[in-house]
Amino acid sequence: MTETIHFETEGSIAVIVIDNPPVNTGSWSVRKGLLDAVEKFAQDETLTAAVIIGKDKNFISGSDLKEFGKPITPPELPQVIKAIEECPKPVIAAISGATLGGGYELALGCDARLAAANTLVGLPEVTLGMLPGAGGTQRLPRLIGLGPSIEVICSGKRLKAAEAFKLGMVEAIAEGDLRPFAIEYAKTAVKNPLSKKMVAAELAEELDGIIKKALKAGKNRPQVKEAIRLIQATATVDFETALAEEREVFQKLRVGEEAFALRHLFFAETSAKKAINLKETPVKAINNVVIVGAGTMGTGIAVAALRAGFKVAVYDQSKSVLVQCKSKIDDIYEKDVAAGRIKPSDQLIQLEQLELSDHDSVFENADLIIEAIFENLTVKQNLIKQIESVASPNTLIASNTSYIDLDEIAEVSIRPENIVGIHFFNPANIMRLVEVIHGNNTSQEVIASAFAFVQKLGKLPILCKNSFGFIGNRIYAAYRYQCELMLEEGALPHEIDQAIEGFGFNMGPFAVGDLSGLDIAWNMRKANASKRDPKARYVDIPDQLCEAQRFGRKTGAGYYSYANGKPEIDPIVTDIILKASATKGIERKNFTPEQIVERVLLTMANEAALLLAEGVTLRMNDIDLVMINGFGFPKWEGGPAYWASKQDLNYLYKQQEILEHNTGIGFNKGDLSIFHKLAKTA
Ligand SMILES: NC(=O)c1ccc[n+]([C@@H]2O[C@H](COP(=O)([O-])OP(=O)(O)OC[C@H]3O[C@@H](n4cnc5c(N)ncnc54)[C@H](O)[C@@H]3O)[C@@H](O)[C@H]2O)c1
Repeated sequence: MTETIHFETEGSIAVIVIDNPPVNTGSWSVRKGLLDAVEKFAQDETLTAAVIIGKDKNFISGSDLKEFGKPITPPELPQVIKAIEECPKPVIAAISGATLGGGYELALGCDARLAAANTLVGLPEVTLGMLPGAGGTQRLPRLIGLGPSIEVICSGKRLKAAEAFKLGMVEAIAEGDLRPFAIEYAKTAVKNPLSKKMVAAELAEELDGIIKKALKAGKNRPQVKEAIRLIQATATVDFETALAEEREVFQKLRVGEEAFALRHLFFAETSAKKAINLKETPVKAINNVVIVGAGTMGTGIAVAALRAGFKVAVYDQSKSVLVQCKSKIDDIYEKDVAAGRIKPSDQLIQLEQLELSDHDSVFENADLIIEAIFENLTVKQNLIKQIESVASPNTLIASNTSYIDLDEIAEVSIRPENIVGIHFFNPANIMRLVEVIHGNNTSQEVIASAFAFVQKLGKLPILCKNSFGFIGNRIYAAYRYQCELMLEEGALPHEIDQAIEGFGFNMGPFAVGDLSGLDIAWNMRKANASKRDPKARYVDIPDQLCEAQRFGRKTGAGYYSYANGKPEIDPIVTDIILKASATKGIERKNFTPEQIVERVLLTMANEAALLLAEGVTLRMNDIDLVMINGFGFPKWEGGPAYWASKQDLNYLYKQQEILEHNTGIGFNKGDLSIFHKLAKTA
């Protein structure tokens, strides 16, 4: 037996306890210990049944991903499951907490699955570029059928105990403590492994619909296709053959580029959560949150805060905007209730915590005030003064500004240590990413409090230092600029959008521009015109579109025309672009999709290198998390910093020189070697 497995007995029942802190991953020691324990149980004639149970919260939270980049040391999980299945006496899985991936596959090899009320089951392997490789694709359909298995495995979703019970993924939910419940159950249990017979084929039409949906949601990734194929094989191929094939596919995917990239992101998130040690850093208690500005962002932030159980007041200067905001919040709740995302009782409780007001008195008892008002320095500074004249000296004041200098906003503050940036992304009730911005004077306690608050919202806080556009918008601006340069040099909007979408982004930059409105960036360009280096290349194509009142979808035309609701190539835009090239004497050339994508990736990496050198962020992995969670960078590519760390450095330097030459004056060269250096120490 290994140190992570304890073998206990209660009468004639063996209790095999998994104890692998902190989260009970299914690492080598757990596999080896379980195998030994099952053998010991099988040989002991005084024992009639066994219960496998986790020591603390979790059963097995999943396989140990750190083992997945190299050959796995035996015994591998399928061998442990085989031993359980072939054990002549019943083995009961008493599952609690996270019972995911290999953890749930182990439970599938047992004779019954009993869940605690806190159990979360799921097979999330596809979200990590793999598929269940220890029988999950073969055993789950034999338990719950083909269609539901495709839904569970291809989404990688986690199901609460009640949902899992409804689907048949667990046989019972314990009333009270799991251990005594499972022991009682084991006393009368009989050997009952899952049948190895082929599964009855389901109605083709119904299954087709489920498959189409799964492929779409899974972005047609290879692991999703393979999972579907193997699940379907349960109706046509014998168990042992399909099981061996599943393992073979799993082993190949496990060491594939996509799985490495997705594991990189998994570890990046784990480490981002620890960017501030909240156990050791003091934080202010936050209960009452006031949001100033009841527009697009304020409404979304209010819903996010209500969802997390905060008392929320939304303040706006306009009464009619407040009325609209309330009705938008109600709508969001109604839709979530209708879709089963929230219980009607929680809807009532949470909405009771909401107040809408145009009185300064709401600032008096606020622990945290988040401003989401117009993007204008003076307006924001005046608000800070207005708030500070009423609020307590302990109140945190956060700005949701996208581009305004946080330190300039804080200049008028009498307590600049209380001012912090909390930059949400639109729609704020849905997007997980939030940049938490440290101004020159922000105190450590305030930063930690903002970070903890964002975590309480269930979101992903990424720390960064105050700087233009922070991490995400700064990289995005550089990327969009290079795409505009490519328009002048020979590409057309749809060619660039198609190349970027082909790489895996949901939308290309021009489709995004049309969706969010070209006038926003136009106003900013006009406001910042005096700060621009007159010698730098300036693309006036978007200005020309805006001058023609082509602001994007909302005006029916932008980079595309939307006469029929769908984007269509517009000869007027092509004409504007061709003339722009001709006016500057640029000879247009063709771009292949690969050239477009490479220029974009290089641009992002170059800007990321500058951000790291400037100390805007100290963590290269955070850059990947921002671009993936905020800007639709395809996660299976790992992010721009990860991409750069995988390229040959000399090749990158050569391409960077070409980029510098094409961009001309104003190009800031980042040190691209930083990614290789940081990747080694990560
Ligand atoms: N819209 C986005 O995609 C997005 C994303 C991230 C950050 N932001 C930032 O969030 C902020 C708000 O953006 P938005 O899109 O929600 O704007 P919006 O125009 O939809 O809403 C702004 C609201 O602020 C109110 N307001 C203005 N001045 C006020 C004052 N002095 N006191 C009280 N209320 C006031 C207005 O009445 C309006 O309802 C901006 O700083 C913007 O840069 C926007």
